[in-house]
Amino acid sequence: MPRFSRRSFLHLSAAASAAAALRMMSEPMLAASARRRPHAKDAVLIDSNENPLGPCQAARDAVSAIIPEGGRYSDNLTDELVSTFAQMEGLNPDYIYCTPGSTPPLSLSVLAFTSPQKSYVTADPSFETGMNMAAIAGARVVKVPLTKTYAHDVKAMLAAAPNAGVFYICNPNNPTGTLTSHADVEYLVDHKPKGAVVLVDEAYIHLCEAPSALDLVKSGKDVIVLRTFSKVYGMAGLRCGFVIARPDLLEKVIARGGQNFMPTTAVAAAAASLNAPELVPERRRINAGIRQQTFQWLDRSGYAYIPSESNCFMLDTKRPGQEVRDAMAKENVLIGRVWPIMPTYVRITVGTQEEMEHFQSAFQKIMKA
Ligand SMILES: Cc1ncc(COP(=O)(O)O)c(C=O)c1O
Repeated sequence: MPRFSRRSFLHLSAAASAAAALRMMSEPMLAASARRRPHAKDAVLIDSNENPLGPCQAARDAVSAIIPEGGRYSDNLTDELVSTFAQMEGLNPDYIYCTPGSTPPLSLSVLAFTSPQKSYVTADPSFETGMNMAAIAGARVVKVPLTKTYAHDVKAMLAAAPNAGVFYICNPNNPTGTLTSHADVEYLVDHKPKGAVVLVDEAYIHLCEAPSALDLVKSGKDVIVLRTFSKVYGMAGLRCGFVIARPDLLEKVIARGGQNFMPTTAVAAAAASLNAPELVPERRRINAGIRQQTFQWLDRSGYAYIPSESNCFMLDTKRPGQEVRDAMAKENVLIGRVWPIMPTYVRITVGTQEEMEHFQSAFQKIMKA
């Protein structure tokens, strides 16, 4: 199959479900649905799993340098970025498509593989974008609670929906920051119904040591992997990501999105970030260190939380979580949302050391009030 060209998808755009695509729900939209607006300029923003470090220096320099070329579509830069990523991961470039963040391919994958006859199966709690998209596709949404160790319960997911079109695995999971073993993902892939896909969302994979599911894509399985530059690379506002799958699956996903071009600033920043060898291990260390210190403080102070491997974790307030969010907002600290299955828990993003100190004093004040 020939290498994907952005222009070659023009003819497929008529099939795109544009109305549905416009209703994609991204993390900041989900976070903002309960955010106090407008928030103060100096508010502590630990509600959207953003990276407070932003793009690395090489990425900032690359963005500045590309600005004069902003009048061009520059497909070639996107192709080079795809080749770089393909080389790094030992993938065939035909298996990779570059997108503005991973929200679009997540939404489009769900539109492509769910329908009123093909259910969407997700863990509960988990990231909601796919679930919202499945509802738009008219699919049944099947929510399966996480296991006692907060992994995806793959056997229960299989049993819950013999007619599944998509099994969504978020690894590490948002909001819990917990892992599902590679063996469990493989089990799901090997036992899923024919025609279904396993959609593995690796938005946070760089923040932990867990293995990726890319090997399952390489071995030709019905697996779609999503990657984003929004998290460890600190590029949420620049928008770059990849969807990685067998070309026949990839074509079905992309067909629903119509034609578009990548912002050259995002592509330049992403390429510079991939070429910065220390970036991922260094940021993983920084995030883990601040997360660990926060957990130690919570332990000392007697608060309950779910240990996490990512840049967010669930904190049990033992009260209605939304009340705590509102009270924290009054202290100028915006914390993450509440999932209906865990009504006393709030999601906390790991920010900078200074932000987490603000969080600690505001949280202590509210809980002691
Ligand atoms: C699990 C997960 N997947 C995908 C996304 C989408 O991110 P983006 O569109 O910025 O790549 C997010 C954002 O927070 C997320 O948490």
